[in-house]
Amino acid sequence: MKLAITGKGGVGKTTLAAGLALSFSQEGKKVIAIDADPDSNLAATLGFPEPEKIVPLVEMKELIAERTGVEPGTVGGYFKLNPKVDDIPDKFSKEHQGIKLLLMGRVKKGGSGCFCPENAFLKAILSYLFFSREDIVILDMEAGIEHLGRGTAEGVDGLIVVVEPSMRSLETAFRIKSLAKDLKIERVFLVGNKVHSDEDIDFIRKNSSDFEILGFIWYNNKLIDKVTNSIIAEIKEIKEGLIRRQDEREREVHR
Ligand SMILES: Nc1ncnc2c1ncn2[C@@H]1O[C@H](COP(=O)(O)OP(=O)(O)OP(=O)(O)O)[C@@H](O)[C@H]1O
Ligand SMILES: [Mg+2]
Repeated sequence: MKLAITGKGGVGKTTLAAGLALSFSQEGKKVIAIDADPDSNLAATLGFPEPEKIVPLVEMKELIAERTGVEPGTVGGYFKLNPKVDDIPDKFSKEHQGIKLLLMGRVKKGGSGCFCPENAFLKAILSYLFFSREDIVILDMEAGIEHLGRGTAEGVDGLIVVVEPSMRSLETAFRIKSLAKDLKIERVFLVGNKVHSDEDIDFIRKNSSDFEILGFIWYNNKLIDKVTNSIIAEIKEIKEGLIRRQDEREREVHR
């Protein structure tokens, strides 16, 4: 299963990404988690030791030059659009509690949309992970879906938009949904996080119209940096919902 998580800043994307990664790995699944947010904190949330020492992929300049044929930061010149990357996830990820973690890092020039060797390299890794690996892949993104190009989007089994009980986070969710439609991502789901009451749940339900809601996570004041067991238990239910939907879809395809 290949999942991408997005939503407005601070709503709980990384918390959900970490909780899903942990709940899949706790049941023995192989998990690859990718932090695609330049302000990354997925490693810390997953409890990786010395998270600040993990080197992001975009900073592996020699490797990018070797694979794409061009030094990152070079202007002009031809570089390989499909560099060899099938050894990268195993060689360059860090592993903790059965989860392999890759940090994408910040593409300096032109951002994540730029036509440059570092983006070709990152895109190739994502598309390799989405199409050629059996592992569960979980992508923690910024408040957008820039990392999903037309190629990768087809491989997404679920784009999960996280909201909190606020109109602004729901507005972001609808913006993302329309971008997802342009990319032909069909399975877009919503998770309501930081709910304090049944009224909060009603608020999200009423203001999310035709969004398919996977579930809710209660506000938990014990959650500081790492995900707690009680949050993981709530996220397990969300994971079960995803698996159920995936099974139903597969049954429909085979009918
Ligand atoms: N259910 C919850 N209850 C209480 N606090 C929460 C909950 N979910 C997330 N938080 C807290 O909210 C803050 C933001 O969460 P998180 O980092 O997961 O969000 P994010 O969407 O990834 O943020 P960013 O946009 O900065 O990447 C963190 O301090 C986190 O501990
Ligand atoms: Mg985050």
